[in-house]
Amino acid sequence: MTRPKPAIGFHRQDNQLYVDGVALCDIADNFGTPCYVYSAAAITQAVQNLTAALTEPKPKIHYAVKANSNLAVLRLMQRLGVHVDLVSAGEYARACAAGFTPAQMVFSGIGKTDAELREAIANNIGQINAESAPEVKRLIALASEMGARPAVALRINPDSQAGGHAKLSTGSHQTKFGIPLDEAATLYKTMAESGTIQPAGLAVHIGSQIMEMDDFAEAWQKMRGFADALREAGYEVPKLDLGGGIGVNYNDGTTADLKTFAGAITQIFADSPYQLAIEPGRVLVAEAGCLLARVIHTKEGVDKRFIIIDAAMNDLIRPTLYEAYHRIEPVRESVDDADTLPPADIVGPICETGDYLGLARPMPALETGDVLAVRSAGAYSAVMRSNYNSRVMAAEVLVLDGAAHRISKPQTLDDLLGADIIPPALRDET
Ligand SMILES: Cc1ncc(COP(=O)(O)O)c(C=O)c1O
Repeated sequence: MTRPKPAIGFHRQDNQLYVDGVALCDIADNFGTPCYVYSAAAITQAVQNLTAALTEPKPKIHYAVKANSNLAVLRLMQRLGVHVDLVSAGEYARACAAGFTPAQMVFSGIGKTDAELREAIANNIGQINAESAPEVKRLIALASEMGARPAVALRINPDSQAGGHAKLSTGSHQTKFGIPLDEAATLYKTMAESGTIQPAGLAVHIGSQIMEMDDFAEAWQKMRGFADALREAGYEVPKLDLGGGIGVNYNDGTTADLKTFAGAITQIFADSPYQLAIEPGRVLVAEAGCLLARVIHTKEGVDKRFIIIDAAMNDLIRPTLYEAYHRIEPVRESVDDADTLPPADIVGPICETGDYLGLARPMPALETGDVLAVRSAGAYSAVMRSNYNSRVMAAEVLVLDGAAHRISKPQTLDDLLGADIIPPALRDET
């Protein structure tokens, strides 16, 4: 008899939460908590869903490495045939280690250092997205000094207000990102006439966690108009990089409407001469991950419960940084008495009132040792973890073909303490 194929991603069966057929309570027992768990099958499906939704003209997908840069995740992305979007020398090193070639990379970012630009130019990175006049000036100087001709696109700022949170909005004139359209024409001309830079086209990225597809359409319309004007003026504009930002619904794990997203691209760029790219991060990995944590104990407050867990804001900062909502659920469901109990704040052990993973949540009675899953934690989660309060970083596990693999080494207190150096004058004489 053939065994039924396990459901893809996170799913419940017999009151237990599983990922790709592996029980999350077994992962918590085997790898400890707090611990990030990712589903390779769910990442694969997210890439396939986006690829399938895209219609002609199909943009090339450049995964935004910043969303989840674990080498195992990057290697999976590489196997899936997507390219990458980077923002630092560190992400460049990771992308190389995962097997991406420089030609498959777009290098974005508002403050690339000379060392980073030199490395990008020397290695012939596919496209550098420049974000300001001083950066273009530095690129021209570096390229002529190195005798190279890097492909550079200009990231325009279309003055869009889009983005799921003020801190996730990058397309307005009030932000540090991109070049206002009225300055971009002169700058494009400067690049084209420099003799050292190959003008690669334009880029835009208006923000993250965007659910309203009209926001994309509005920015892309402006981009198309500007690109057409540059071409009419005789400049080459081979590529348009439409950015990332597709949102996910953290209440139910669905994504923004991919068909509408793809439809807007087709409507605006059909029959256009441009090679298109997009830079999605969150939509490809958010729902494929969760953070597992154990209950340390519960505490009765004056008018609420506190569930104190072994994960904290250093492990997942999104709730306190962006007021982000993450579903939190017991991995093993026992009696569902949440309705009869006061709501609970799910908090970590860190000495900050902002150290919470969820506020005022209906939760069943929980006991010390129970495991909770903080859902939709595959994007902008582990990548932002820190050692605050001298807590070692949560481990990461990838479930691949029905088996759980550790994909980051467990950090120890020795690692933490060993990173600090006491100057000789402060050391005790021995
Ligand atoms: C330049 C750039 N491209 C792509 C992304 C990916 O955005 P998202 O993860 O929302 O798709 C970001 C993230 O903010 C970004 O800054």
